[in-house]
Amino acid sequence: MPVKVGVIGCGKVAQRLHLPQYLNTENLKISGGPSRLLWLCETPVDAELVALADIKEDLVKNIASQVRVKKIFTDYRKLLEEKEIEAVSICTPNYLHAEMTIAAAEAGKHILVEKPMATTLDEAQAMITAAHKNKVFLMVEQTHRFGPNPEVAKEILEEGLLGRILYVWGKIGHAGPEQWSPGADWFLQKKACGGGAMIGIGVHVFDLIRWLLGKEAVEVSGTLGPLRKPYFEVESNAVAHVKFEDGTVAGFETSWSTVPYQMKVIFYGEKGTMTLSFGADNPVVVNYGIPTGVGDPNCGWGTFIPEGRKKSKSGGPIAYFINCIKRNEQPFISGEEGMKSLEGVLAVYESSKTGKVVKLPFKEVKK
Ligand SMILES: NC(=O)c1ccc[n+]([C@@H]2O[C@H](COP(=O)([O-])OP(=O)(O)OC[C@H]3O[C@@H](n4cnc5c(N)ncnc54)[C@H](O)[C@@H]3O)[C@@H](O)[C@H]2O)c1
Repeated sequence: MPVKVGVIGCGKVAQRLHLPQYLNTENLKISGGPSRLLWLCETPVDAELVALADIKEDLVKNIASQVRVKKIFTDYRKLLEEKEIEAVSICTPNYLHAEMTIAAAEAGKHILVEKPMATTLDEAQAMITAAHKNKVFLMVEQTHRFGPNPEVAKEILEEGLLGRILYVWGKIGHAGPEQWSPGADWFLQKKACGGGAMIGIGVHVFDLIRWLLGKEAVEVSGTLGPLRKPYFEVESNAVAHVKFEDGTVAGFETSWSTVPYQMKVIFYGEKGTMTLSFGADNPVVVNYGIPTGVGDPNCGWGTFIPEGRKKSKSGGPIAYFINCIKRNEQPFISGEEGMKSLEGVLAVYESSKTGKVVKLPFKEVKK
């Protein structure tokens, strides 16, 4: 039986990722053209989309007419009252994730919440507690963990092909929220977004580094770049340094002023280097050193490009979430996992304020 779902928030990420996947379709006319996230639709999703909610009545009506969903709401709480709905996607501005997740958990729905899971650690903890109390699954939608290429990269690291990893560098950048979702001003408001590029998209790259390394961060420091127009409340760019529990160090950067889109992580190990680049012709490239024994610091080196794998093992995030519900299995990006990635980026804000290294776990000072 298909899992019955409702989608709360029908903006860009719903149009480009959640709705196409729930509907097993490649594209929605309304989304403004094909998305680079379309590959995520490759795995059939055994779900039935039964309801949509958005405060913008015109938008929700327009989408519902395209996708033939009969139940539409401008108050998400009414959607949650629908008994037949077993699970929800929460695709609203960041400051609403906690309130909506807690309400959904109390209504007994499984939850897939967009990243960042919340804007504060207290909110994230309350979401986790609500999900446990109500015995529902809470998954945080960290898109970049999915797909064949991150999976291949994870296998290479786990097989130890690079030896011990000593340093990781990562970058995520795009042209900014004005390009992604025109008119979505909330991205540029501190209270609504929780910050700027660091919480907005830096959380993707920090989460990916954490997951691929399989290690926890113990120290974070960082610097925020210029504040973004028109409100001058949130940063356009930020850089961070991280120390992991085994001494591995990482540096990562995030930007809402990078054209074209760039998402890349490089793992530097004792035996070689692996680059994972999203959208590249060769998304995973391994360069391994061949010691020449002649005192040449460059060594000899070779390149290994893993065979392109077309299909992801887990499917896209939506297929995976639905399969977890069907198998009664806790998704691997649980609330606790999402909170660790959130904590890392919030620590960058703390460090930029105090000028000090932040030791994890840390307690946020109330704003
Ligand atoms: N995983 C990814 O790669 C990815 C990409 C982009 C955005 N996101 C995340 O997805 C979320 C939404 O981003 P977006 O780009 O779709 O933003 P958006 O502004 O395009 O869409 C948000 C939608 O939520 C609606 N909304 C606002 N308040 C509401 C309420 N009270 N009830 C119901 N609907 C309400 C808005 O009307 C809007 O249509 C954010 O958390 C963002 O960080 C994730």
